[in-house]
Amino acid sequence: MSSRIPLPYTPKVLELFRNPKNVGPLADADVIATAGSPACGDVIKLYLKIVKRGNEEYIEKASFESYGCAANIAAASILTEMIKGKRVKEAWELSWKDIADELGGLPPIKYHCSILAVGALKRAIRMFYERIKRKPEWLPKEMTIEEKQTIEEEKLIETMYRKLMQFRT
Ligand code: FES
Repeated sequence: MSSRIPLPYTPKVLELFRNPKNVGPLADADVIATAGSPACGDVIKLYLKIVKRGNEEYIEKASFESYGCAANIAAASILTEMIKGKRVKEAWELSWKDIADELGGLPPIKYHCSILAVGALKRAIRMFYERIKRKPEWLPKEMTIEEKQTIEEEKLIETMYRKLMQFRT
């Protein structure tokens, strides 16, 4: 018998974990961003199709692949649902807390799962504007908490990987 205590996931998290929406690569994605966490080894890949209407960019399609836990899959699933059809600027304003709230809450130990999903989103949006060489006035120069965290975590992964390789040779 397992001595592990199940995490208090909300019904919404459990439902989206079992039946996630928008899973899989997007063949016509304009931008693909990944974010990883060495804390747990999980990785998320986010695909966005962005279209221009008038003077504004909109997220037409969004999908994800997650090599993560139940909370990360649920967070990525609800994030893709929340951003579809939104102006890119509105999608940018989403925080990890908005995602956690939409899921009916997350156990504190799982907050980083939502941070990872939003980190991938913000990174994708920044990459998109870098690629088209335009910087909207609402896009801050400073990185957000979610971007910083994903970068710090990736640096840690790289360091750990390099150390492991040195150890093996
Ligand atoms: Fe790492 Fe959930 S435990 S993303």
